[in-house]
Amino acid sequence: MQSDAPIGVFDSGIGGLTVVRELMRQLPDEDIIYFGDTARVPYGPKSPETVTRYAHEITSFLRDQGVKNVVVACNTATAHALDSLRAHFDIPITGVIEPGARAAVRASASRRIGVVGTQGTVSSGAYERAIHALDEEAEVTARACPLFVPFVEEGWLDHPAINLVAQDYLAPLRDIGIDALVLGCTHYPLLKPVIARALGPDIKLIDSAEETAGEVARLLTERGLRHAPREDRSHLRFIASDVPEQFRKVGERFLGAAIDHVETLTLG
Ligand code: DGL
Repeated sequence: MQSDAPIGVFDSGIGGLTVVRELMRQLPDEDIIYFGDTARVPYGPKSPETVTRYAHEITSFLRDQGVKNVVVACNTATAHALDSLRAHFDIPITGVIEPGARAAVRASASRRIGVVGTQGTVSSGAYERAIHALDEEAEVTARACPLFVPFVEEGWLDHPAINLVAQDYLAPLRDIGIDALVLGCTHYPLLKPVIARALGPDIKLIDSAEETAGEVARLLTERGLRHAPREDRSHLRFIASDVPEQFRKVGERFLGAAIDHVETLTLG
């Protein structure tokens, strides 16, 4: 494995760009190839078998591009497919759930932790398992918030309607006294102000992007795979399986930077 090979990152769509943003901040010398499965988004309501098949197809593609590791920047794909990907592929694979669980356990004093995510992530129980592996006694309450994703995709990040929806989803979590809430979906960090308003100021919001990028940095350092410091700019390559123009437009908001070009590639 070459240290100057790119990092491969994938998500069901554009949401995983929040992880790329953090990778760019923490690992500015690394080249990145990002695949957004915009043709088949959303993964949230799909079966574990289907999501696992998609995740294998994308990881095969990224491996064939010569990446040195793969970051599954999608909570639903991590929940359903991470173990199977790790068993099948001979490259290091990082998911977003373990890092998010670690950050939540660190942040919670009351050990009452809330998790929000897609239907698939919540039904999988993956966050409960990851949190309990770190703290058996923690009380974990998970809730699916399926309407959040379309609001974010639409760019309605502070619309009155999303405030009402957030109140409805989150009031039960607030009322049971959680002190930390894991934003267990790539899209939710963009709704942080709305979520914070619905929960009040005392509940910490855990965004796994930062922790995930930290884990990738540790992994590359341990294996001697960090790209050498460079004078030129790192290379970012974006691939979407459909509607690249929409990916570019909405993706810039997730990435917090301009996206010059998006390739299109259909898998499956
Ligand atoms: N990327 C997905 C996740 O983090 C959210 C969007 C979807 O349902 O595909 O769970």
